[in-house]
Amino acid sequence: MATRVKVLLDCDPGHDDAFAIIVASKFAEVLGVTTVAGNAPLDLTTKNARIVLDLCGSITPLHSGAGRPLVAEPIHAAYIHGESGMDGANFSAPSRPADGTDAVHFIIDTVRANPGVWLVPTGPLTNIALALRVAPDLVEKISGISLMGGGRFGNRTATAEFNIWCDPEAASAVFDSGAKIVMSGLHLTHQIMATPARIEMVRSAHAVVGPQLAGLLEFFSKMYKSLHDDFEGAPLHDVCAVLALTHPQFFGSSERHVAVEIDGAITRGMTVIDDRHVVSRAKANTKVLETIDSDAAFSLIVEAIRACPER
Ligand code: BDR
Ligand code: CA
Repeated sequence: MATRVKVLLDCDPGHDDAFAIIVASKFAEVLGVTTVAGNAPLDLTTKNARIVLDLCGSITPLHSGAGRPLVAEPIHAAYIHGESGMDGANFSAPSRPADGTDAVHFIIDTVRANPGVWLVPTGPLTNIALALRVAPDLVEKISGISLMGGGRFGNRTATAEFNIWCDPEAASAVFDSGAKIVMSGLHLTHQIMATPARIEMVRSAHAVVGPQLAGLLEFFSKMYKSLHDDFEGAPLHDVCAVLALTHPQFFGSSERHVAVEIDGAITRGMTVIDDRHVVSRAKANTKVLETIDSDAAFSLIVEAIRACPER
């Protein structure tokens, strides 16, 4: 079997984060999972990560991290993920506690011990920014940062995507860090929707976790459809950041310079993608993912669910 890409997942589960963890557990070598406040407060995103690791039978280390953004006030997303952060299914209480509460030092230690690892953040970038601030040497030790965030349009505001909008100062530090960034923005992630037919594929993929995961997608899609007039289902945003590393052949991309707006009155949290071809443009710092083969990607999600243990 080909060597699997080594990843550290930093997440705020979150319906789509849950699928990202499941897909990474199947197709990558997950060196650890860290949690951040975002879709829900930190205690809930950590509890949800514990639940999802149980679903996929993973014993990878789990550490909670930042309970609030660097500067911004903490704001969560119950309007899309429910009060628990992962409404829509009944899960058993998680079997194990988190292994620690210092995600930042766990990230630093794990990267130093595993040069070449990818960081895969799918929530606000607070933990990642703090790790890079404490240990700038990480930039040279990682392969890069494959993140879900930003895009060519917004969702939390007209210009800002939720993960970046939650902690723009952290996001700005990450994009400016010198690390190689792979960006799964909204213009990409809205190409992979949990349509009703796909939800049925999830339900029938596994006797135990299939119905639970289908319940998550039904709730997530119901919320998206209630808030928008052009969605067939919820986008599986966070999975893209994992598949971009494990199955890059399913993506189209462009190399761009991306900066995060932190001051704008109506553009705070915007990822400003420089599409210009002027010779004086800033050097590209980001692989901006533009297209995804969503049927192929969804098949991989189903394959990952099938690999979950029978409990
Ligand atoms: C992002 O915000 C959260 O709602 C999702 O988990 C995803 O990471 C999409 O804007
Ligand atoms: Ca997320």
